[in-house]
Amino acid sequence: MTRLACKGALITGAARGIGRAFAETYISEGARVVIADIDLDRAQATASEIGAVAVQMDVSDVASIDNGVAAAAEELGRIDILINNAAIFTAAPIVEITEANYTRCFDINVRGTLFTLQAVARRMIADGKGGKIINMASQAGRRGESLVAVYCATKAAIISLTQSAGLNLIEHGINVNAIAPGVVDGEHWDGVDAFFAKYEGKAPGQKKREVGAAVPFGRMGRAEDLTGMAVFLASAEADYIVSQCYNVDGGQWMS
Ligand SMILES: NC(=O)c1ccc[n+]([C@@H]2O[C@H](COP(=O)([O-])OP(=O)(O)OC[C@H]3O[C@@H](n4cnc5c(N)ncnc54)[C@H](O)[C@@H]3O)[C@@H](O)[C@H]2O)c1
Repeated sequence: MTRLACKGALITGAARGIGRAFAETYISEGARVVIADIDLDRAQATASEIGAVAVQMDVSDVASIDNGVAAAAEELGRIDILINNAAIFTAAPIVEITEANYTRCFDINVRGTLFTLQAVARRMIADGKGGKIINMASQAGRRGESLVAVYCATKAAIISLTQSAGLNLIEHGINVNAIAPGVVDGEHWDGVDAFFAKYEGKAPGQKKREVGAAVPFGRMGRAEDLTGMAVFLASAEADYIVSQCYNVDGGQWMS
């Protein structure tokens, strides 16, 4: 199928994990894809494996966002689709949260999402062809978690930003929506597992097994479980969908 034929897509944080799966699927659907990541070496390796183009971008730095978006626009001709996927995870009990950790997590997850969205939306408006913007939220943004206050707050902010940006930009034919995954296995969750090993005294891999067993579907998610929603929200089939956040989580959250 080529549901994204002739579309140009910019995907942040796509050197690995879910973003990489999005990039591969978009290419198989006919899109041309630019991967923007802070880890340029890995982004270039991924890009050459899957047929994308890599650009360096640190989404916590607005100048870097502007340069990366300009490079992507030059490469693609026009950016039709943006996935704001880059993010980091952090965990700590409330009394151990540091200002540095808080600032880094909000700078990447929230500030990065807003200002990448802004830079791309400005171009989409100037190009006059509308577009699709997908923000990566999380089930962590649907409710708090004892050890995950900062990351949960960043993902709640993504859901809220998606609502406001969607309302503001739809007059330009730009649809802004979000995806809220549950627990998706990969390097991200290896890091999450290590945090829980530290704070809950669990053996390595134990938290992963526990969360996987607790998913109504019966296992942790895989990156490819999310790609169908990412294609749908980027396609013309989603033209009438505005400011929504879709749970793709094996039945973890209902709203
Ligand atoms: N894996 C999960 O269980 C899960 C669950 C819910 C939501 N999510 C969200 O899905 C998205 C992708 O998750 P993932 O599991 O693939 O994560 P990941 O950690 O495997 O990949 C994140 C990517 O972002 C890049 N990145 C980090 N900081 C950056 C920065 N400042 N600028 C640009 N790039 C940067 C990394 O280099 C990496 O390539 C994230 O927004 C994450 O919060 C993941």
